[in-house]
Amino acid sequence: MRITPITGTIGAELSGLDLKQPISEDLEQALRAALDTHLVLVIKDQFLDAAQHRLLSEVFGKPMVNPYAPGKAPHPEMTHVIKEADDAAGVFGGGWHTDLSFFDQPPNGSVLCALEVPPFGGDTLFSNQQAAWDGLAAPLREILNERKLIHVGKPYGIKWAPPIEEQSMKGSSLRNDPDADRERFHPAVLTHPVTNRRALYLNPTYTLRLEGMSEEESRPILDALFQHTTQPEYCCRLRWSEGMVAIWDNFSTQHYAVNDYYGYRREMRRTAFSGYSISDYSPH
Ligand code: SIN
Repeated sequence: MRITPITGTIGAELSGLDLKQPISEDLEQALRAALDTHLVLVIKDQFLDAAQHRLLSEVFGKPMVNPYAPGKAPHPEMTHVIKEADDAAGVFGGGWHTDLSFFDQPPNGSVLCALEVPPFGGDTLFSNQQAAWDGLAAPLREILNERKLIHVGKPYGIKWAPPIEEQSMKGSSLRNDPDADRERFHPAVLTHPVTNRRALYLNPTYTLRLEGMSEEESRPILDALFQHTTQPEYCCRLRWSEGMVAIWDNFSTQHYAVNDYYGYRREMRRTAFSGYSISDYSPH
């Protein structure tokens, strides 16, 4: 396996791999180590079927079902992220987020396989939240150290739900769940259990406020943080090709699906995995 970084901060392309073949224990270890270091891995020309996709996810953790976008039997853990050519609404994941951070136990990573991609556009951006923590001004670090942030499932609930015409994956994604509006508390800063790198754990899609502060009081601080955490120096941008696979660390990154390919269909197959729990990343 060759590992080629794709920016100075985040992401690496792996080559010399055929993930359709059984994955040896040595390769499993090498894949986990590469993810711990680079946070986003890209492997082109894999064309994995659902069973192979699942086996790859299991290298990193147990695949979990997304209750708001479950897959069809026999693979409920596989969300099909589909945007039809004539769908003028938002895209699934079309805002900076970490997957399902409003869960009590969010997944610590995801595997996304490209099944059909537009001839241009439909890229995915990733931002390194370890670099964002390292680059954060000291007074903001002090505010966040040891503090919890409150996350809610805005798009899936009632209180903050976007208007129907802006919703992505209408019909295949479940909405209006009052439980998604329930506040969940997670540490603002997570520590990677293997590398000990600290990372900001927040995102504009689901993070509502700081513990001990109202939404209004939190707004200026969160806005400054959201701007800081997604600056270009912390980011990479993946250009998809059919058969490509991306794997990411959901506790150390944010990502953003770019909505710029109206007129073309895009279909991806996604698993989220639970290897580490959030408490494994919270030694304090
Ligand atoms: C997601 O947020 O997982 C979707 C990413 C994408 O479709 O590019």
